Amino acid sequence: MKAILLNGSPRKNFSTAQLLQQAQLGAEAAGAETELIHLVDYEFTDCRECYACKLKNSKTGGVCAVRDSIQPVLKKIWDADVVIVGSPVYFSYPNGQVISLLNRSLFPIYSYFYKDGKPDMVPHAKKFSGLIYAMNCKEEEMEKFHYPELLGTWGKTMDLVYGYNEVQYCCNTYQYNDYSRYRQNLFDEADKKRQREEVFPQDLKKAYDLGMRLTQMAAEDRKK
Ligand SMILES: Cc1cc2nc3c(=O)[nH]c(=O)nc-3n(C[C@H](O)[C@H](O)[C@H](O)COP(=O)(O)O)c2cc1C
Repeated sequence: MKAILLNGSPRKNFSTAQLLQQAQLGAEAAGAETELIHLVDYEFTDCRECYACKLKNSKTGGVCAVRDSIQPVLKKIWDADVVIVGSPVYFSYPNGQVISLLNRSLFPIYSYFYKDGKPDMVPHAKKFSGLIYAMNCKEEEMEKFHYPELLGTWGKTMDLVYGYNEVQYCCNTYQYNDYSRYRQNLFDEADKKRQREEVFPQDLKKAYDLGMRLTQMAAEDRKK
């Protein structure tokens, strides 16, 4: 069982990365071989609309045809049983690297040819996927900012393409370690600190459980 974890945050050890590290430990505890990749280490563009993956005789087989530094990562995603993507929320969306990665990894698998009302996917597309978001927004304000639709839509797309997805939202994150250094009055430092100490550990545990659960589900599925 192979699990790949992709960190969209440019910070390799902040909230998104820590959540993914826990998901990685959970996947390992369930028996997966794992790899955590930081997208900031790769220079890549969004989909270039070459449509090589949509040709009638396409040989791309689930991996984007564009040969740039992210292509080996896309190949690893294709070979994985479990795919967990972590993204910071930037202006109400996953950040740019994550959107580009999702377009580059999902579009080659997604089929424009529909059979019985469903896209006729490349064989072996099925993966157990997770999407973890880290954001400033408080849980109780998610609806007000339409985050379940704006962010959840990517979970629905992963579900459509891979056949399974779970989304985890980690709210009210600690954005920097020392709030006193920054010119801001939007966030209450004491509340942020309380959240970091009391709620973030629960988010980490949820991420651990997610990694474990997805790996267990993939293992069960592969037995069929
Ligand atoms: C460019 C930028 C835009 C952001 N926009 C939002 C936003 O729209 N909503 C939100 O809840 N948080 C927003 N944030 C906060 C980040 O989502 C939050 O700090 C997140 O935890 C960062 O993840 P990291 O700590 O793993 O890097 C923004 C941060 C940056 C840098």
